[in-house]
Amino acid sequence: MSRTLDLGQQVAIVTGGGQGIGRQTALTLAAAGARVAINFFPDSAGQNHALAAQVAKEIAALYGTESSAVFAADVRDAQQVEGMYTAVLDKFSRLDIVVNNAGILRDRSIKKMTLDEWTSVIDTNLSGVFHSCQQAALKLSPGGRIINVASLSAVMGFFGQANYAAAKSGVLGLTKVLARELAKSNIRVNAVAPGVVDTEMGQSIPEENRKVMQQQIPLGRFAEPREISDVILFLASDLSSYMTGQTLHVNGGWWF
Ligand code: NAI
Repeated sequence: MSRTLDLGQQVAIVTGGGQGIGRQTALTLAAAGARVAINFFPDSAGQNHALAAQVAKEIAALYGTESSAVFAADVRDAQQVEGMYTAVLDKFSRLDIVVNNAGILRDRSIKKMTLDEWTSVIDTNLSGVFHSCQQAALKLSPGGRIINVASLSAVMGFFGQANYAAAKSGVLGLTKVLARELAKSNIRVNAVAPGVVDTEMGQSIPEENRKVMQQQIPLGRFAEPREISDVILFLASDLSSYMTGQTLHVNGGWWF
């Protein structure tokens, strides 16, 4: 039997799909034939909605208007996440792939980190993934796939990232447990741990830190979003059919 990257008509949710890695993941999955539910955080200015709608428009122009739709939900809020999953199933009648990509960065050394900086990162980057995985466990079709976007920070422990590294390490643990729990439904759960990626988040790292980091990367550069979304596509496809509970490190060879 041939194994391909063709996701023909399968339905994928991408959280935080309006920009950066999430945007590129939505485009990459759509290019492989998936219909994509693009999640966005509903900010009061409507900026994230506009970004997600732009991605949906790009996908529609290439693959037709039924190939994507946008869905509001703050991943920190379990009820909003449940509502989004219900709306996605109402719209597309099936769900095959979930990419938990939404995340934030609030770096500060431990002595100065505010409680809000701690809880906002844990709530978004860890509880947000839990909320989505719980809904995915309930609503994914047998044979479904969950891909959680972690970070090199989970295993490296970068200075100033107590909140972020704790959350992303939590995501790796969650991934392993869910791989076991959902295996009987043949739902595979894996993680991708990028190094630094050239997105709004990656560019928010101070220039002097970026220079030092770049010197430590054997490939000598940061990743393009496509280099992460291609690995997500692999984990979403049948080409990774015997992989579950794993973390793929996509970091240009950075040692840890
Ligand atoms: P980004 O800042 O460009 O995009 C993050 C997305 O998450 C945005 O669309 C944002 O609106 C959304 N988001 C934030 N809070 C949300 C919430 N409560 N509910 C729903 N959506 C929410 O960041 P980027 O670089 O695209 O990051 C994507 C993922 O990759 C994140 O989980 C991040 O931690 C991870 N990552 C990024 C790296 C980088 O260097 N850019 C390196 C390693 C991991």
